[in-house]
Amino acid sequence: MRKFLSLLLGAAVMAITSTYAQTECSITPKPNATIASEGSLDISRGLSLYIDAPKDEVSRLECAASEVGVELRRVKRPAKRAYLNLAVVEMSEIKGAEEYKSFDEGYLLNIGAEGVDIKATTAAGLYYGLQTLRQMCYAGSTIAACQICDAPRFEYRGILIDVSRHYRSVEFLKRQIDAMAELKMNRLHLHLTDAAGWRIEVESYPRLCNYAAWRTPATWKGWWYGDRAFVEQGSEGAYGGYLTKAEARELVAYAADRYMTIIPEIEMPGHSDEVIAAYPELGCTQRPERQGDLCIGKEATFEMMQAILDEIIEIFPSEYIHIGGDEASKSSWRECEDCKRRMQEEGLESVDELQSYMIHRIEKYLNARGRQIIGWDEILEGGLAPNATVMSWRGEEGGLAAAAAGHNVVMSPHAYCYIDAPQDAPPTQPEAIGGYLPLEKVYSYDPAPQSMAESVSKYILGVQGNLWAEFIPTDEHYEMMLWPRAIAIAEIGWSELKERDYSEFRSRAVDIVERMARRGYAPFDLRNEIGNRPESLKPIEHKALGKSVEYLLPSRYYGPQYAAAGDATLTDGLRGTWTYADGRWQGFLGRGGVDVIIDMGEVTHVESIAADFMQYCGPGVFMPCLVEIAVSEDGESWTKIADIEHEVVVEDVPSFKNFGWHGSTNARYIRYKAHRSKFSGFLFVDEIVVM
Ligand code: ACM
Ligand code: ZN
Repeated sequence: MRKFLSLLLGAAVMAITSTYAQTECSITPKPNATIASEGSLDISRGLSLYIDAPKDEVSRLECAASEVGVELRRVKRPAKRAYLNLAVVEMSEIKGAEEYKSFDEGYLLNIGAEGVDIKATTAAGLYYGLQTLRQMCYAGSTIAACQICDAPRFEYRGILIDVSRHYRSVEFLKRQIDAMAELKMNRLHLHLTDAAGWRIEVESYPRLCNYAAWRTPATWKGWWYGDRAFVEQGSEGAYGGYLTKAEARELVAYAADRYMTIIPEIEMPGHSDEVIAAYPELGCTQRPERQGDLCIGKEATFEMMQAILDEIIEIFPSEYIHIGGDEASKSSWRECEDCKRRMQEEGLESVDELQSYMIHRIEKYLNARGRQIIGWDEILEGGLAPNATVMSWRGEEGGLAAAAAGHNVVMSPHAYCYIDAPQDAPPTQPEAIGGYLPLEKVYSYDPAPQSMAESVSKYILGVQGNLWAEFIPTDEHYEMMLWPRAIAIAEIGWSELKERDYSEFRSRAVDIVERMARRGYAPFDLRNEIGNRPESLKPIEHKALGKSVEYLLPSRYYGPQYAAAGDATLTDGLRGTWTYADGRWQGFLGRGGVDVIIDMGEVTHVESIAADFMQYCGPGVFMPCLVEIAVSEDGESWTKIADIEHEVVVEDVPSFKNFGWHGSTNARYIRYKAHRSKFSGFLFVDEIVVM
């Protein structure tokens, strides 16, 4: 909102050359203020690199400069021609910097006929200036003259990589860091621990690594729906792994060289099945049975978590340590004598307060060691720890409540940021969690919209995309899910809202995806994107449009969560998208199935009566096993015209199917009845189309 104008005023009228226009379009995330100059710089014969930065940053910057794609000669003083000068300077020396809320990661890039100047107040700013230059250099041997004074909208621009459900190698993680850093992302949240496997070396509790990091089924699904057992490291068929401390340190350093911080997540007290499998005494029942919640009544739990955190903070210098806090079932705490005693002693009135007690205690422990906690929005339940930062995932409400109470927040609402959902037509994609989250929807997210009060938005640190790996066994699959949607997260985090234009962004994303594929990544091929469900794109005209629908008992009990447009839904002309939560699909749960009568108003000649259903087995949405269609002219005497049987089978991938009749008849009343299969669950239908 800020800087564009003053830069424009500061500059004389400058011609925007076509080379310039092309160049500007090639930078992602889109810079927040750019001015074209006349002329261009020939980079084909290389540039003389001069770096004026704190000593310990010089080799990092030299390394980053070497990736720009221009031949460089390091020089001891600034050259007069064909130069690339990098300088850390005072803010007052950067015209335009004052327009930004923070210029800590900002840069001023000046490209003229003689060379390139990048100035910033920090080495990180110079690094981001180099990323911009790098992207401009993809265009060829000449780059257009211009001035870019750019800084991020948010200080936190992150991606969560889940290495618990399926272990990923250091090499894989480095590759993602490379791609993220080029897009000016600066946080990698590593989900190191969860039910399906512990992934970081801990010396004080060795069974976490030599046992809880190994299982025999290679897929999470095989493990989760199997016996959920762990095996000894090195035993036959053991699948899994963990980062050794040396590897983790190497990764931390690799990220730091790219001005990126790795935030480790050590889950507690929920999602801790693997910890309890390795150390059953930490569960409430003390038996190695399936349970995910650590016992908060026992001091041993705190001794263990604190010892683990001691080792974690030694490896990871990050200010933030993520302590999870999500989705504890809290049920065993109600029965456990130790937990009950703890509640009594501490005057805790609910299990929410018991969880909060643990989070407070862990926060205190980490604060005393100079670190801050960040946790999923459930840490609000029972009272938020005084200095905690909240990662808002179930929606934005948790984040907003935390920000309103003066806590920092990272926005990561699942509807926009959970990139484990399919990114294209779900029937064409591998099995995944969630409905449908295309690039366009991710890109539409604004973590701090204009409507948000400044008193709240000032606590929004930024945004994070989360890629959970339950259904993602291979590296290629993981990259396909991550890219290009992580590009959208990068741009949301960096670029001002007013700079965003989806179709223009998409064409840049297509280029990036192509470049990544040439570099050996396996991104989703955006050029072949199918997009949203074609039927949903425009309303359908049909003979029952707007006609009244009577819901016969018990099918009257649609919703309430999936009521869509209520009784108008099935004849409103609107067909559903790929997801059932879109307000167009109507969901029927409980007894019976769908049983409705459409009143056509008068006897009408009809040639087709049909409706679509969907199946998403994971969340319990199934096709009907039988659809019956009957017609009547008077509402008394009925003629059955269709009996459509369907064998419902459980499948990994969602499907959509039309159940209908085609022929010729007259009807005033149409009864459409869909029977639930033996799998029970939901039936979802969007429109009964009568032609
Ligand atoms: C989460 O997705 N359970 C944070
Ligand atoms: Zn307990």
